[in-house]
Amino acid sequence: MKMATNPPKFKVPLVDDERLQNLKNAFERHYGETPLFYACAPGRVNLIGEHIDYCGFSVLPMAIEQNIFAAVSVNNLGTIQLANINPLYNNITVSCSEEIVIDRTNPKWYYYFLCGVKGIQEKFGITRLPGMSCVIDGNVPPSSGLSSSSALVCCAGLVTMEANQKSLSKLALAEICAKCERYIGTEGGGMDQSISFLAEKGTAKLIEFEPLRAIDVQLPAGAVFVISNCCLEMNKAASSHFNIRVVECRIATKMLGQAKGLNQKGLLKLAQVQTELKASLEEMLLLVDEVLHPEPYSREEICKALDITSQQFSTELLSANTQHVTHFKLYQRAKHVYGEASRVLRFKDVCDCEAEESIQLLGDLMNQSHASCRDLYECSCPELDQLVDICLKSGAVGSRLTGAGWGGCAVSMVPSDKVQSFVQAVREAYYLPDPRRAAMEKQSLFVSKPGGGAAIYVEN
Ligand code: GLA
Repeated sequence: MKMATNPPKFKVPLVDDERLQNLKNAFERHYGETPLFYACAPGRVNLIGEHIDYCGFSVLPMAIEQNIFAAVSVNNLGTIQLANINPLYNNITVSCSEEIVIDRTNPKWYYYFLCGVKGIQEKFGITRLPGMSCVIDGNVPPSSGLSSSSALVCCAGLVTMEANQKSLSKLALAEICAKCERYIGTEGGGMDQSISFLAEKGTAKLIEFEPLRAIDVQLPAGAVFVISNCCLEMNKAASSHFNIRVVECRIATKMLGQAKGLNQKGLLKLAQVQTELKASLEEMLLLVDEVLHPEPYSREEICKALDITSQQFSTELLSANTQHVTHFKLYQRAKHVYGEASRVLRFKDVCDCEAEESIQLLGDLMNQSHASCRDLYECSCPELDQLVDICLKSGAVGSRLTGAGWGGCAVSMVPSDKVQSFVQAVREAYYLPDPRRAAMEKQSLFVSKPGGGAAIYVEN
């Protein structure tokens, strides 16, 4: 099938693609008409820089080939109709005359789509959205740390922008989608949406925040990145692990700020403390040792140190799904964040200088990152630790969990000439011995190269 590109910001070359043809057929069967346009947004793999984007620090992901595709037409029924190629995800119709409501207590697949719709609606103050009919086809493995949910939000943002004949830059869309995904209740940092829009084929990106910027990072020749799923699903919107970490970092920010006499107003991210103090990351690590203790903090201790009431603590520092938490590991979380922020910058420097020992140096940084996620941030799980261990024994120079953690994928850096033996060894040690994992192996273990960003296609 021939696709023409839509000028000017999301231009993509014409493609003749079987998956798109299937999507078109499904759309025609479902709605009895031809799609007006198509939009896609990729998932991502984070190479290094875990759980630090929401603290204001730069991260280093690349887009993967797997993405969310939508076929779309504009209807005059006054409804948003959503269908999914995957029969596990039910069809849904939402009225355009009612406010879009996202139920945080019960995350459903299409809420992510509605987050994107709502983000664009609010950006342009659209009181009544046009009706849209969509069929979605996603091939990013869900709940696996490869950002399938953000890809759906980004795809929906793009779809809604196009259906409303609006135009936004990729940067603006990334910012809107990072913000509107929070309607689902998780306080993500913006990495996933930024790379989904700003990715370019062939290069990883250093994503900086405030202001948002994506800088090319050339990965070394001679090694490839292999993704492997531990086959334990983690839905970050359905548990409070993720937001507990966000809250712990926020409280650690306040405690460090208080100890150094900083103005607490608007001080919410660990990166802000560093900026205010004009300190290096190494100095920040020393400051954490000086100010915070490794024993978990109780609410009472925090309220006393910050001179706030228990009520203020609940409303200003906690989120809706963390109200039950009684103890907070501030020292460990802050140590991870400043250490990981420093590893990201070193990773980029190593990539930039193309030294002979680059691959080993990058591998070491990835291994340190995993250890920090496991021991200080406690966002790994036994399955991921076992998988990372197997990857290293199978020939990877570096291996680490990627994405939010608590399940999902590991990313390993493997010398190009060892890829085949690596994949075979991981198959034998991790997947084949367990029938459930063996059944999932095909979509769970694959080489990944930096893919392109979100795009709109209009049919010729
Ligand atoms: C999720 C969030 C991101 C980031 C990662 C952890 O993917 O959406 O913003 O915080 O977890 O690095």
